[in-house]
Amino acid sequence: MKKYQTLTGMNDLLPSQTPLWQKLENKARELFEVYGYGEIRTPLLEDTTLFSRGMGSESQVVQKEMYTFDDKGGDSVTLRPEGTAGVVRSYIQNSLHAQDAITKLYYMGPMFRYERPQKGRLRQFHQIGLELLGTDSAHADSEVIIVLDRLFQSLGLKNYTLDLNSIGTKEEREAYVQKLLAYFESHKSELTEESQNRLATNPLRIFDSKHREDQKVCKDAPLILDHLGEESASHFQTVQDDLKKAGVKFNVNPKIVRGLDYYEKTAFEFTSQDLGSQSAFAGGGRYNRLVEELGGPQTPGVGFGLGCERTVLLLEMLEKEKDLLNGVYFVVFDDASAKQARELVQTCRDAGIRAEMGFEIKSFKSQMRRANKFHFSHAAILGEDEIKSSQVALKNMETGEQKPVAWSDLVSELK
Ligand code: HAM
Repeated sequence: MKKYQTLTGMNDLLPSQTPLWQKLENKARELFEVYGYGEIRTPLLEDTTLFSRGMGSESQVVQKEMYTFDDKGGDSVTLRPEGTAGVVRSYIQNSLHAQDAITKLYYMGPMFRYERPQKGRLRQFHQIGLELLGTDSAHADSEVIIVLDRLFQSLGLKNYTLDLNSIGTKEEREAYVQKLLAYFESHKSELTEESQNRLATNPLRIFDSKHREDQKVCKDAPLILDHLGEESASHFQTVQDDLKKAGVKFNVNPKIVRGLDYYEKTAFEFTSQDLGSQSAFAGGGRYNRLVEELGGPQTPGVGFGLGCERTVLLLEMLEKEKDLLNGVYFVVFDDASAKQARELVQTCRDAGIRAEMGFEIKSFKSQMRRANKFHFSHAAILGEDEIKSSQVALKNMETGEQKPVAWSDLVSELK
């Protein structure tokens, strides 16, 4: 009999893993609502050309990584490799621009890219994203970066870096790319074959190369930040001023170019060395032409996408150091104490307290092991004496302290 397995690069998320996912999703929802963003849910499948036009037909994702197939009607469709293009399609289709000059949206869900899987890189992965449409104000750029940083702070993440850049307007970038091309051409023989190929498609991406030869050439390459026009430069300065005021730490990194073609002006990436080679766990930037490119009215936008798998990896590292979770595990010895414990478990659960006990009576040691395994903050021990006195011996699993608590006081004590 064939043993069925998930497809390469696609994972089940089991109950032991989903609490951290829920924590991330819940915190994000809470925070996004505070900043005035509403949730949008778009289909996983879209017309293929939405992505090729949106992300740029030369981008690596469109060239190599899309799950594209013909449906039974013969139309070419693609599983969304990212969220922005679908959100913008919906924004145009539903005339959201007519409802208000500013539209603030967030989304969460699976994305699909046919990549070579490794730690933190999957073929079905998940993003939480946010898009602010309708303004070119630099304060919008700083707003989306601040929300994202506040989210990471509220989750307790510490060991990460925010790299910030401006890649200018399309015109500024075109002029700059000519200079960059001339520079790279004069060092062509020192570049890897992959980067030589990028000279013809997207020379900016050479900055992303991890090969030492390429990095050596990049070190002295002309930088976009030295080629910004007045407006772009002052836009970038405002973003930086806002971030400083909000206490968001960042590095200006002129080599951040981003992999999708729709960006202009602000581009940013959050990375953490704790993640190894797939270090970017969120990224985004401004896109002022995308709405028009996809058939809508000229509308500027800015947003980000956060990689859930990578963020959860960071949360797991914190969790390992971390504390017990509130709740009580009942430890019983015989049928009488089990019967009483079942009642108390129900009372606790009805009061919203996480409570658990075994279905069978096991040894004391094995019950305490389970209490530890599931990170219960307390164990309620119900021996013969406790049954007689209508109490439990409540053990604090962190300090080891134990004290008698009357059954009737248990809920208030745990709360
Ligand atoms: P992106 O940088 O392509 O941007 O993806 C955002 C994040 O998704 C990355 O930083 C990474 O954490 C995660 N990610 C990407 N590919 C994978 C993968 N194969 N496995 C696991 N995680 C992955 C975007 O997608 C833009 N739509 C973001 C945006 C929104 N820009 C403006 N608005």
